[in-house]
Amino acid sequence: MVGQELMRAGNLHKTYRKNAVCTPVLLGVDFEVNQGEFLSIVGPSGCGKSTLIHLLGTLDKPDQGEVYFRNQRIDNLPSSQRDHLRNREFGFIFQFYHLLPELTTLENVLMPLMIRHSTLGWLTARWRAIKKAKDLLGKVGLGHRMNHLPKELSGGELQRTAIARALIGDPALLFADEPTGNLDESTGNGIFDTLRGLNQIDGVTIIMVTHNLDIASTTHRTIRLAAGQVESAEPAPARVHPWVFDPRNEGPLRQTGG
Ligand SMILES: Nc1ncnc2c1ncn2[C@@H]1O[C@H](COP(=O)(O)OP(=O)(O)O)[C@@H](O)[C@H]1O
Ligand SMILES: [Mg+2]
Repeated sequence: MVGQELMRAGNLHKTYRKNAVCTPVLLGVDFEVNQGEFLSIVGPSGCGKSTLIHLLGTLDKPDQGEVYFRNQRIDNLPSSQRDHLRNREFGFIFQFYHLLPELTTLENVLMPLMIRHSTLGWLTARWRAIKKAKDLLGKVGLGHRMNHLPKELSGGELQRTAIARALIGDPALLFADEPTGNLDESTGNGIFDTLRGLNQIDGVTIIMVTHNLDIASTTHRTIRLAAGQVESAEPAPARVHPWVFDPRNEGPLRQTGG
Protein backbone atom coordinates (compact mmCIF):
# COMPACT_ATOMS: atom_id res chain seq x y z
CA MET A 1 0.00 0.00 0.00
CA VAL A 2 1.25 3.44 -0.87
CA GLY A 3 1.48 5.67 2.19
CA GLN A 4 3.01 8.93 3.35
CA GLU A 5 5.89 10.82 1.79
CA LEU A 6 9.26 9.08 2.11
CA MET A 7 11.53 11.27 -0.04
CA ARG A 8 11.16 14.68 -1.61
CA ALA A 9 13.32 16.62 -4.04
CA GLY A 10 12.88 20.39 -4.00
CA ASN A 11 14.19 22.66 -6.77
CA LEU A 12 17.28 20.50 -7.46
CA HIS A 13 19.94 22.08 -9.66
CA LYS A 14 23.15 20.44 -10.84
CA THR A 15 25.80 21.66 -13.27
CA TYR A 16 28.96 19.68 -13.94
CA ARG A 17 32.05 21.89 -14.22
CA LYS A 18 35.30 20.70 -15.67
CA ASN A 19 38.04 23.19 -16.56
CA ALA A 20 36.15 25.93 -18.41
CA VAL A 21 33.31 23.64 -19.53
CA CYS A 22 29.94 23.87 -17.77
CA THR A 23 27.29 21.20 -18.37
CA PRO A 24 23.99 22.26 -16.83
CA VAL A 25 21.97 19.08 -16.23
CA LEU A 26 19.22 19.60 -13.65
CA LEU A 27 17.41 22.96 -13.66
CA GLY A 28 14.93 22.77 -10.81
CA VAL A 29 13.63 19.24 -10.26
CA ASP A 30 10.70 18.78 -7.88
CA PHE A 31 8.93 15.55 -6.99
CA GLU A 32 8.20 13.24 -4.09
CA VAL A 33 7.99 9.49 -3.58
CA ASN A 34 5.62 7.95 -1.08
CA GLN A 35 6.22 5.02 1.24
CA GLY A 36 5.49 1.78 -0.63
CA GLU A 37 5.49 3.39 -4.06
CA PHE A 38 7.20 2.01 -7.17
CA LEU A 39 8.17 5.12 -9.12
CA SER A 40 9.79 5.02 -12.54
CA ILE A 41 11.84 7.81 -14.11
CA VAL A 42 12.13 8.00 -17.89
CA GLY A 43 13.71 10.48 -20.27
CA PRO A 44 16.18 10.70 -23.15
CA SER A 45 19.77 9.54 -22.74
CA GLY A 46 21.90 12.27 -21.15
CA CYS A 47 18.94 14.15 -19.63
CA GLY A 48 20.23 13.68 -16.08
CA LYS A 49 18.46 10.57 -14.76
CA SER A 50 21.61 9.07 -13.21
CA THR A 51 22.61 12.50 -11.92
CA LEU A 52 19.24 12.73 -10.18
CA ILE A 53 19.61 9.26 -8.62
CA HIS A 54 23.06 10.25 -7.34
CA LEU A 55 21.66 13.39 -5.70
CA LEU A 56 18.70 11.57 -4.15
CA GLY A 57 20.95 8.78 -2.86
CA THR A 58 23.49 11.29 -1.42
CA LEU A 59 26.22 9.98 -3.71
CA ASP A 60 26.63 13.57 -4.94
CA LYS A 61 25.44 17.01 -3.80
CA PRO A 62 23.14 19.45 -5.61
CA ASP A 63 24.36 22.99 -6.37
CA GLN A 64 21.00 24.29 -5.20
CA GLY A 65 17.82 22.76 -3.80
CA GLU A 66 17.16 20.14 -1.16
CA VAL A 67 16.57 16.42 -0.69
CA TYR A 68 14.39 15.32 2.22
CA PHE A 69 14.13 11.77 3.58
CA ARG A 70 11.42 11.13 6.18
CA ASN A 71 10.99 14.92 6.36
CA GLN A 72 14.62 15.45 7.30
CA ARG A 73 16.98 17.31 5.01
CA ILE A 74 19.78 14.95 3.93
CA ASP A 75 21.68 16.59 1.04
CA ASN A 76 23.68 18.83 3.38
CA LEU A 77 24.56 16.24 6.04
CA PRO A 78 28.26 15.61 6.81
CA SER A 79 29.72 12.81 4.71
CA SER A 80 29.85 10.33 7.63
CA GLN A 81 26.08 10.71 8.15
CA ARG A 82 25.44 10.36 4.42
CA ASP A 83 27.59 7.18 4.41
CA HIS A 84 25.47 5.89 7.29
CA LEU A 85 22.23 6.66 5.44
CA ARG A 86 23.42 4.85 2.32
CA ASN A 87 24.46 1.82 4.33
CA ARG A 88 21.35 1.66 6.56
CA GLU A 89 18.44 3.14 4.62
CA PHE A 90 19.22 2.97 0.90
CA GLY A 91 19.93 0.15 -1.54
CA PHE A 92 21.45 0.72 -4.98
CA ILE A 93 21.26 -1.31 -8.19
CA PHE A 94 23.14 -0.09 -11.26
CA GLN A 95 23.14 -1.03 -14.93
CA PHE A 96 26.65 -2.51 -14.72
CA TYR A 97 26.18 -4.26 -11.35
CA HIS A 98 29.36 -2.91 -9.65
CA LEU A 99 30.19 -6.24 -7.98
CA LEU A 100 33.69 -6.84 -6.60
CA PRO A 101 35.33 -9.27 -9.06
CA GLU A 102 37.51 -11.12 -6.54
CA LEU A 103 34.63 -11.91 -4.16
CA THR A 104 32.09 -14.73 -4.50
CA THR A 105 28.38 -14.10 -4.89
CA LEU A 106 27.87 -14.72 -1.17
CA GLU A 107 30.76 -12.43 -0.17
CA ASN A 108 29.52 -9.63 -2.45
CA VAL A 109 26.09 -9.81 -0.81
CA LEU A 110 27.65 -9.76 2.68
CA MET A 111 29.82 -6.71 1.99
CA PRO A 112 27.35 -3.99 3.15
CA LEU A 113 26.96 -5.78 6.50
CA MET A 114 30.71 -6.44 6.85
CA ILE A 115 31.53 -2.75 6.60
CA ARG A 116 29.13 -1.98 9.45
CA HIS A 117 31.24 -3.90 11.93
CA SER A 118 34.68 -3.88 13.51
CA THR A 119 36.72 -7.06 12.95
CA LEU A 120 35.69 -8.32 16.38
CA GLY A 121 32.03 -7.32 15.92
CA TRP A 122 31.93 -9.14 12.60
CA LEU A 123 33.06 -12.37 14.27
CA THR A 124 29.85 -12.44 16.30
CA ALA A 125 27.56 -10.92 13.65
CA ARG A 126 28.67 -12.94 10.66
CA TRP A 127 26.75 -16.19 11.19
CA ARG A 128 23.42 -14.43 11.26
CA ALA A 129 24.56 -12.30 8.28
CA ILE A 130 25.58 -15.38 6.27
CA LYS A 131 22.18 -16.99 6.96
CA LYS A 132 20.43 -13.82 5.80
CA ALA A 133 22.60 -13.54 2.66
CA LYS A 134 21.90 -17.17 1.77
CA ASP A 135 18.17 -16.65 2.27
CA LEU A 136 18.22 -13.59 0.01
CA LEU A 137 20.23 -15.36 -2.68
CA GLY A 138 17.68 -18.18 -2.57
CA LYS A 139 14.89 -15.66 -2.89
CA VAL A 140 16.37 -14.12 -6.05
CA GLY A 141 16.94 -17.59 -7.54
CA LEU A 142 20.70 -17.88 -6.93
CA GLY A 143 20.79 -20.52 -4.20
CA HIS A 144 22.97 -22.65 -6.47
CA ARG A 145 25.50 -19.89 -7.27
CA MET A 146 26.70 -18.83 -3.78
CA ASN A 147 30.36 -19.64 -4.32
CA HIS A 148 30.72 -18.46 -7.90
CA LEU A 149 32.82 -15.45 -8.86
CA PRO A 150 31.21 -12.64 -10.90
CA LYS A 151 33.13 -13.71 -14.03
CA GLU A 152 31.37 -17.09 -13.80
CA LEU A 153 27.85 -15.58 -13.81
CA SER A 154 25.48 -14.45 -16.58
CA GLY A 155 24.24 -10.86 -16.79
CA GLY A 156 20.93 -11.74 -15.17
CA GLU A 157 22.70 -13.61 -12.36
CA LEU A 158 25.04 -10.66 -11.80
CA GLN A 159 22.06 -8.34 -11.47
CA ARG A 160 20.29 -10.75 -9.11
CA THR A 161 23.43 -10.77 -6.97
CA ALA A 162 23.39 -6.96 -6.97
CA ILE A 163 19.72 -7.02 -5.93
CA ALA A 164 20.49 -9.35 -3.01
CA ARG A 165 23.39 -7.07 -2.00
CA ALA A 166 21.09 -4.03 -2.15
CA LEU A 167 18.56 -5.78 0.10
CA ILE A 168 20.85 -7.23 2.76
CA GLY A 169 20.63 -4.09 4.91
CA ASP A 170 16.80 -3.98 4.77
CA PRO A 171 16.69 -0.65 2.91
CA ALA A 172 13.71 1.66 3.24
CA LEU A 173 14.33 2.87 -0.30
CA LEU A 174 15.79 1.06 -3.28
CA PHE A 175 17.34 3.02 -6.17
CA ALA A 176 17.63 1.15 -9.46
CA ASP A 177 19.39 2.94 -12.33
CA GLU A 178 18.53 1.13 -15.59
CA PRO A 179 18.69 -2.29 -13.89
CA THR A 180 17.63 -4.05 -17.10
CA GLY A 181 19.62 -1.81 -19.46
CA ASN A 182 22.38 -4.34 -20.11
CA LEU A 183 20.19 -7.44 -20.35
CA ASP A 184 18.19 -9.15 -23.09
CA GLU A 185 14.44 -8.62 -22.97
CA SER A 186 13.43 -11.83 -21.26
CA THR A 187 16.20 -11.64 -18.63
CA GLY A 188 15.33 -7.98 -18.06
CA ASN A 189 11.68 -8.85 -17.57
CA GLY A 190 12.71 -11.44 -14.96
CA ILE A 191 14.72 -8.79 -13.08
CA PHE A 192 11.78 -6.43 -13.25
CA ASP A 193 9.46 -9.18 -11.94
CA THR A 194 11.77 -9.57 -8.96
CA LEU A 195 11.77 -5.82 -8.28
CA ARG A 196 8.03 -5.62 -8.53
CA GLY A 197 7.64 -8.57 -6.18
CA LEU A 198 9.85 -6.77 -3.66
CA ASN A 199 7.58 -3.76 -3.90
CA GLN A 200 4.27 -5.63 -3.86
CA ILE A 201 5.06 -8.32 -1.32
CA ASP A 202 7.82 -6.89 0.88
CA GLY A 203 6.70 -3.26 0.62
CA VAL A 204 10.08 -1.92 -0.52
CA THR A 205 9.81 1.60 -1.95
CA ILE A 206 11.59 1.75 -5.32
CA ILE A 207 12.77 4.58 -7.55
CA MET A 208 13.77 3.07 -10.89
CA VAL A 209 15.25 4.68 -13.99
CA THR A 210 14.37 2.79 -17.15
CA HIS A 211 14.32 3.18 -20.92
CA ASN A 212 11.64 0.53 -21.18
CA LEU A 213 8.30 2.34 -21.42
CA ASP A 214 6.32 -0.91 -21.19
CA ILE A 215 7.96 -1.66 -17.86
CA ALA A 216 7.57 1.95 -16.70
CA SER A 217 3.87 1.88 -17.52
CA THR A 218 3.27 -0.92 -15.02
CA THR A 219 4.85 0.90 -12.05
CA HIS A 220 2.63 3.00 -9.79
CA ARG A 221 3.75 6.26 -11.37
CA THR A 222 6.15 7.54 -14.02
CA ILE A 223 7.91 10.87 -14.12
CA ARG A 224 9.58 12.10 -17.29
CA LEU A 225 12.73 14.21 -17.15
CA ALA A 226 13.45 16.55 -20.03
CA ALA A 227 15.40 19.78 -20.39
CA GLY A 228 16.53 19.52 -16.78
CA GLN A 229 13.06 19.43 -15.26
CA VAL A 230 10.17 17.07 -14.58
CA GLU A 231 8.20 17.35 -17.80
CA SER A 232 5.26 15.21 -16.79
CA ALA A 233 4.20 13.19 -13.80
CA GLU A 234 1.48 10.61 -14.26
CA PRO A 235 -1.07 9.87 -11.55
CA ALA A 236 -0.91 6.40 -9.98
CA PRO A 237 -2.94 3.85 -11.97
CA ALA A 238 -6.10 2.58 -10.31
CA ARG A 239 -5.04 -1.07 -10.55
CA VAL A 240 -1.72 -2.91 -10.28
CA HIS A 241 -1.04 -6.52 -11.29
CA PRO A 242 -1.08 -9.20 -8.57
CA TRP A 243 2.29 -10.88 -7.88
CA VAL A 244 3.22 -13.78 -5.64
CA PHE A 245 6.42 -15.34 -4.36
CA ASP A 246 6.85 -18.92 -5.58
CA PRO A 247 8.13 -20.85 -2.52
CA ARG A 248 8.40 -24.23 -4.31
CA ASN A 249 11.91 -23.67 -5.58
CA GLU A 250 12.83 -20.56 -3.59
CA GLY A 251 12.94 -19.10 -7.07
CA PRO A 252 12.39 -15.61 -8.38
CA LEU A 253 9.12 -13.82 -7.89
CA ARG A 254 6.58 -14.54 -10.59
CA GLN A 255 3.60 -12.89 -12.13
CA THR A 256 0.31 -14.69 -11.61
CA GLY A 257 -1.56 -12.87 -14.32
CA GLY A 258 -3.89 -9.89 -14.32
N1 LIG B 1 30.93 13.56 -13.74
C1 LIG B 1 30.50 14.25 -14.81
N2 LIG B 1 31.22 15.29 -15.29
C2 LIG B 1 30.80 16.00 -16.35
N3 LIG B 1 29.65 15.76 -17.03
C3 LIG B 1 28.89 14.73 -16.60
C4 LIG B 1 29.27 13.92 -15.47
N4 LIG B 1 28.31 12.99 -15.28
C5 LIG B 1 27.39 13.19 -16.25
N5 LIG B 1 27.73 14.23 -17.04
C6 LIG B 1 26.94 14.77 -18.15
O1 LIG B 1 25.68 15.16 -17.62
C7 LIG B 1 24.64 14.82 -18.51
C8 LIG B 1 23.63 13.93 -17.79
O2 LIG B 1 24.24 12.68 -17.50
P1 LIG B 1 23.44 11.48 -16.81
O3 LIG B 1 22.86 11.96 -15.55
O4 LIG B 1 24.37 10.34 -16.74
O5 LIG B 1 22.29 11.24 -17.89
P2 LIG B 1 21.29 9.97 -18.08
O6 LIG B 1 21.48 9.08 -16.92
O7 LIG B 1 19.93 10.57 -18.18
O8 LIG B 1 21.69 9.34 -19.37
C9 LIG B 1 25.28 14.18 -19.72
O9 LIG B 1 25.43 15.17 -20.72
C10 LIG B 1 26.63 13.73 -19.21
O10 LIG B 1 27.58 13.72 -20.22
MG1 LIG C 1 22.11 7.12 -16.76
